Amino acid sequence: HAATDYQAEDATISQGTVAGNHTGYTGTGFVDYTNVKGSYVEFRVSAAATGPASVTLRYANGTAADRPMDLSVNGTVVAPAVSFPATADWNTWAAKAVNVTLKAGTNTIRATATTANGGPNLDRISL
Ligand code: GCU
Ligand code: CA
Repeated sequence: HAATDYQAEDATISQGTVAGNHTGYTGTGFVDYTNVKGSYVEFRVSAAATGPASVTLRYANGTAADRPMDLSVNGTVVAPAVSFPATADWNTWAAKAVNVTLKAGTNTIRATATTANGGPNLDRISL
């Protein structure tokens, strides 16, 4: 099926801000995670049927250090400490795909920073 985009700036943000101070994002901005462990962005996504799905996160990381995040679905961590390695700079975006299982109807997908550096800048997820 065609992928649906869910913009981070439209999602629920805990310890982060909507920003636009770098280029190359889609929508109206991106989320700048506060540089603390536990900062997160949570999306509400809909699935037609129960089953596997590939979620692609579009992010930028202009530092040299990885910015790992836990991915949880409906309150359960399904992919711990997913790696979000350096991109060339904050204007360069990369895609990270993660396989998850969704239920029919509405699901929540949360990406939570696992280190004191916070998450990478997050533009959107697609699935
Ligand atoms: C810089 C950059 C931000 C980024 C931040 C960080 O301030 O401009 O977009 O989120 O670094 O290190 O997290
Ligand atoms: Ca940040």
